[in-house]
Amino acid sequence: MLGRERIEYKDDAQITAMRAAGLVVADALAAVRTAMAPGMTTADLDAIAASVISGAGAAPSFLGYYGYPGTICVSVNDEVVHGIPGERVLAPGDVVSVDCGAIVAGWHGDAAFSAVLPDADPDDLALVEATEQALWAGIAALAKGDRLAGVGDAVEDVVAASGRGYGIVQEYVGHGIGRAMHQPPDVLNYRTRERGPRLRPGLCVAVEPMLTRGSRHTNILADDWTVVTVDGSRAAHAEHTVAIRESGVWVLTAHDGGAERLGALGLQVAPVDVVG
Ligand code: MF3
Ligand code: CO
Repeated sequence: MLGRERIEYKDDAQITAMRAAGLVVADALAAVRTAMAPGMTTADLDAIAASVISGAGAAPSFLGYYGYPGTICVSVNDEVVHGIPGERVLAPGDVVSVDCGAIVAGWHGDAAFSAVLPDADPDDLALVEATEQALWAGIAALAKGDRLAGVGDAVEDVVAASGRGYGIVQEYVGHGIGRAMHQPPDVLNYRTRERGPRLRPGLCVAVEPMLTRGSRHTNILADDWTVVTVDGSRAAHAEHTVAIRESGVWVLTAHDGGAERLGALGLQVAPVDVVG
């Protein structure tokens, strides 16, 4: 029964192993972010991520997942998530969301970012900014709170504070992660009465809010993957893999472990000290 499935709690050695996967994902996304520009195809971005992942001796987790044909998902403008890389040429002002997963020694990392290509519409930049802020507020809720549902509360609070009435996509949610990309528990991005599981050390989750400039409702295109907003409004997605520890959280897919963004929220990161 959903919500009652067994959660895989990780010990410090396992979290350290997941950090290795997280850093590969961080490197792949950084390379894509640096390279992306109008005129490139989404397949070009896929090739960049694939080469970083294979160069690290890691494996892509999306490729072949229920038959998924890419290493990354590239979702442009009204595409929310699961856009398949291909011959689409990126245009000035596009909102581009890139999602990537990698496996190292059997452990998974999963993360995503959104960016607006120049010349950006300020309203698109605000959307991307709010999505990133929602992600970090959700991560902070993991560090401070006692129940998983604090993530959804935090995302809703950021959207309300923005005053822009963004849609919060509900059909797709964050998830537990570890020896598989998707594990229990679900991590909702909206407020609910169910408070969810207690936040215990060793819980590792991917937090991944998706916001739109219009309706929160989505359709799936005929390719059976690409998720688009029903009203054509532009959407953004941001994601990190996060480990919960006794003293806080460690953001496994952020190069700095989340130190900068969590520090700005008055929180300290809680890495596993790797004894050399
Ligand atoms: N990375 C997505 C998630 O965040 C899953 C991608 S589905 C795939 O959960 F088929 F593209 F792998
Ligand atoms: Co995910």
